[in-house]
Amino acid sequence: MFELRSLRVPVVQAPMAGGPSTPELAGAVSNAGGLGFLAAGYRSAEALAEQIHHTRLITGQPFGVNLFVPQPSVAAPAALAAYAAELAPDARRLGVEPGTPHPDDDDWAAKLDVLFELRPAVASFTFGTPDAETVARLGDADVLVLVTVTSLAEAKAALAAGAPALVVQGPLAGGHRGTFDPAAPPPADDLETLFGRIRHHTDAPLVAAGGLTTPAAVARALAHGAVAVQAGTAFLLATEAGTSAVQRQALVAPGFTETIVTHAFSGRPARALVNDFVRRHDATAPLGYPEVNQLTGPLRAAAGAAGDPDGTNVWAGAAWRDIRSGTAAEIVRHLAKEIE
Ligand SMILES: Cc1cc2nc3c(=O)[nH]c(=O)nc-3n(C[C@H](O)[C@H](O)[C@H](O)COP(=O)(O)O)c2cc1C
Repeated sequence: MFELRSLRVPVVQAPMAGGPSTPELAGAVSNAGGLGFLAAGYRSAEALAEQIHHTRLITGQPFGVNLFVPQPSVAAPAALAAYAAELAPDARRLGVEPGTPHPDDDDWAAKLDVLFELRPAVASFTFGTPDAETVARLGDADVLVLVTVTSLAEAKAALAAGAPALVVQGPLAGGHRGTFDPAAPPPADDLETLFGRIRHHTDAPLVAAGGLTTPAAVARALAHGAVAVQAGTAFLLATEAGTSAVQRQALVAPGFTETIVTHAFSGRPARALVNDFVRRHDATAPLGYPEVNQLTGPLRAAAGAAGDPDGTNVWAGAAWRDIRSGTAAEIVRHLAKEIE
């Protein structure tokens, strides 16, 4: 089975659902000696299988596939209806209607089947831990399982399910927080403290993630005992990334000056650039994934298509100011520059 410590460059390109993760990006990162990742979130199992095949045409090196673990939604119908009413004027301006909330487990069972059939070297999970049977079956299929955790309690739960390695995601991370409980209070620990707590508890290989966009930050995380770092935001401007034009522009625009963790876009906490949408809806949006994500979907898509970064979610980690454009290989080399 693939082992993280066998990576030539201990840099994992974070899975980034919603566009940025592409076979070209994953393949280029793996070809550069890091570990590329495909993101299964929001796409069908068939589309995921195609992406795995496509990536295998680009690289013969190991790469990973990331799945969202489904969980019961905490959405309350009345709160969703109120939020839909709040979004209606924005929707009208964009010429769309808010989406219709409906149950959706992101094609979980069919995507697991794809993992068992196509056996990528690594499968990572976020928003929860797969159960012990699934973890064991993936191990039997020679797939290394990684579970993203944001607290010691989540680390214990993932290890109890048999996870052989963890991604420790700190609070500065871009995009969705991997927390198993979307209603959990914001984490008190920074990445180093959280990493230390989990390190103290287990000898399992730990990948550090969240806010690692500079060579110095990467070197520090490795010096603290991470087997590798996982960087997402650092790859958003990569040539091979599928990051939309509007997101690329927003990430370098001087007008965006801070990030925030908000559930206004998806009903789950996620770190994004502060824009008009966040300013108008962060305080009133209800929790409830995937329903809130479905409600805002048409608005986000229309704003994105119109090139309006103030109406859509621009996920970004708190250290986004340090990111660079370039090829994925150049970004891997840059991040690894200060590794001893
Ligand atoms: C645009 C974007 C999309 C993301 N999508 C996913 C995803 O689909 N699955 C996942 O496990 N993590 C996702 N993440 C979180 C990353 O796995 C990782 O924890 C995070 O990028 C690390 O922080 P950084 O962005 O500061 O490097 C996403 C992050 C970003 C920035």
